[in-house]
Amino acid sequence: MNISFILINIIIILKLIYAQSDTIEDCIPINKILRKEPSYNCCLNNGVICSNNRIIKIYLYISDGANIELPSELGNLSNLEYLYVKIDNLNGSIPAELGNLSKLKFIYIDGGNMSGSIPNELGNISDLEELYLSRINLKGSIPSSLGKLSKLKIIKLHNNGLSGSIPPELGNLSNLEEININGNKLSGFIPSELGKLSNLKILELAENKLSGSIPSELGNLSNLKILNLSQNKLSDSIPPELGKLSNIETLDLSTNDLTGSIPHELGNLSRLKTLTLSNNNLSGSIPKEVKKLNIKLYTSNNPLLGSDSSNDSTIIIIIVIIACVLGLSILFAFVYSKTKKNVGVDNRNTSYASSSAPRNNPSLGVNNATRLGISNMTVSTNRSTVSNITTSTFK
Ligand SMILES: *[C@@H]1O[C@H](CO)[C@@H](O)[C@H](O)[C@H]1NC(C)=O
Ligand SMILES: *[C@@H]1O[C@H](CO)[C@@H](O)[C@H](O)[C@H]1NC(C)=O
Ligand SMILES: *[C@@H]1O[C@H](CO)[C@@H](O)[C@H](O)[C@H]1NC(C)=O
Ligand SMILES: *[C@@H]1O[C@H](CO)[C@@H](O)[C@H](O)[C@H]1NC(C)=O
Ligand SMILES: *[C@@H]1O[C@H](CO)[C@@H](O)[C@H](O)[C@H]1NC(C)=O
Ligand SMILES: *[C@@H]1O[C@H](CO)[C@@H](O)[C@H](O)[C@H]1NC(C)=O
Ligand SMILES: *[C@@H]1O[C@H](CO)[C@@H](O)[C@H](O)[C@H]1NC(C)=O
Ligand SMILES: *[C@@H]1O[C@H](CO)[C@@H](O)[C@H](O)[C@H]1NC(C)=O
Ligand SMILES: *[C@@H]1O[C@H](CO)[C@@H](O)[C@H](O)[C@H]1NC(C)=O
Ligand SMILES: *[C@@H]1O[C@H](CO)[C@@H](O)[C@H](O)[C@H]1NC(C)=O
Repeated sequence: MNISFILINIIIILKLIYAQSDTIEDCIPINKILRKEPSYNCCLNNGVICSNNRIIKIYLYISDGANIELPSELGNLSNLEYLYVKIDNLNGSIPAELGNLSKLKFIYIDGGNMSGSIPNELGNISDLEELYLSRINLKGSIPSSLGKLSKLKIIKLHNNGLSGSIPPELGNLSNLEEININGNKLSGFIPSELGKLSNLKILELAENKLSGSIPSELGNLSNLKILNLSQNKLSDSIPPELGKLSNIETLDLSTNDLTGSIPHELGNLSRLKTLTLSNNNLSGSIPKEVKKLNIKLYTSNNPLLGSDSSNDSTIIIIIVIIACVLGLSILFAFVYSKTKKNVGVDNRNTSYASSSAPRNNPSLGVNNATRLGISNMTVSTNRSTVSNITTSTFK
């Protein structure tokens, strides 16, 4: 009796233990997102990669995500390395508990209309390399604690409602290659510390309320390919140090309150493809070093910027006049020699052939050269009118 009672008890206890281990602990938060029973083995789901019943990677796209929130228990997935969630209509806020995930390298949260701000705790994820929190309606400021993420390479926070100023601590992130904070409500100055980011390739701070001058330190960003500071309230003149951006391809400073003249040093930017300076208050004239570059140049809506097109057209007129005079003299020479030929056909026959050939050839050469020059000039004026037209549509 006693022994069988004990045996039955042992069996019941074993069953209970078995039933409990049936539920994978790591799946509890994921099953909330997936709208599954807590006991569902989420590791069977395509977007969840497990190892020894621990979740390592999450890659979830949910198109009908109304009222789904990211559960705070995500912070228990201590083996998680990769978190990608695109959940349409995701609701709620970013759990501060994510800051406990010391192995996390990648965070991408998209598709939501979230409330709340970027938790300070994200600055504790010391292995984080990429952070994507764009277009999810985040408010509040960018936490300065993000300046502790020393392995961070990419940070994209664009098109949210972020306010406050850009934390200078971001300048400590020496591995950063890309910053995109376009389309927020950031104010204050651009921190000069950003000039320390020697690996930075892309810096996009457009469509904010940034004010003050463009820090000359940005000229130290020798690997920068894209600098977009358009649609802010930046004032003062363009720092000539930007002429040191030897790898820059796209430079957009349009729609600010920039004054002063365009620095000649920008003519040193040999990799430049597009320079956009429209909608400012620049003055002076476009430096010849800049004009010389084979780039798309947009300068419209700078009322005080002298258009050098008058200069161009006088040069064109002079060239046209020279060409006409040359053409006429060649014509006269030709007609003259023909009449001469008609007069003394017989005795001038050989001397005519020998003298007319070398006379005609160099004049043809000159004629070709000037014609080439003229067509070059018309091409370049065409380009500037084209760029003027595209500028207005560009805006
Ligand atoms: C988010 O979802 C909850 C229900 O889960 C709901 O009560 C709340 O109103 C939703 N919030 C928004 C902003 O839609
Ligand atoms: C999981 O997370 C919740 C809330 O973040 C916490 O209360 C709970 O103790 C955690 N569970 C484990 C097993 O760590
Ligand atoms: C996880 O983070 C939360 C809030 O950030 C904290 O209160 C909690 O103690 C942490 N849990 C663990 C297990 O570290
Ligand atoms: C996001 O939610 C807010 C309220 O929290 C609402 O006013 C806004 O229209 C929503 N935006 C979108 C794109 O759904
Ligand atoms: C995580 O970050 C918060 C806020 O930045 C801080 O108060 C907390 O001490 C940090 N926790 C750990 C474990 O580093
Ligand atoms: C990070 O940057 C801030 C401000 O730019 C500075 O005061 C701080 O000492 C830096 N921290 C580290 C660890 O480099
Ligand atoms: C960066 O630029 C500033 C001003 O343009 C200069 O004073 C400074 O020495 C530069 N720093 C480095 C590390 O090159
Ligand atoms: C700069 O950013 C603004 C805002 O996102 C965008 O409209 C513009 O096209 C960008 N400029 C360039 C040259 O890409
Ligand atoms: C850059 O341009 C300026 C003016 O056009 C010139 O004086 C200077 O030597 C150039 N610097 C380099 C490094 O090419
Ligand atoms: C442009 O600058 C001139 C003189 O510096 C100033 O009088 C004018 O108000 C400015 N215009 C704009 C639109 O800022």
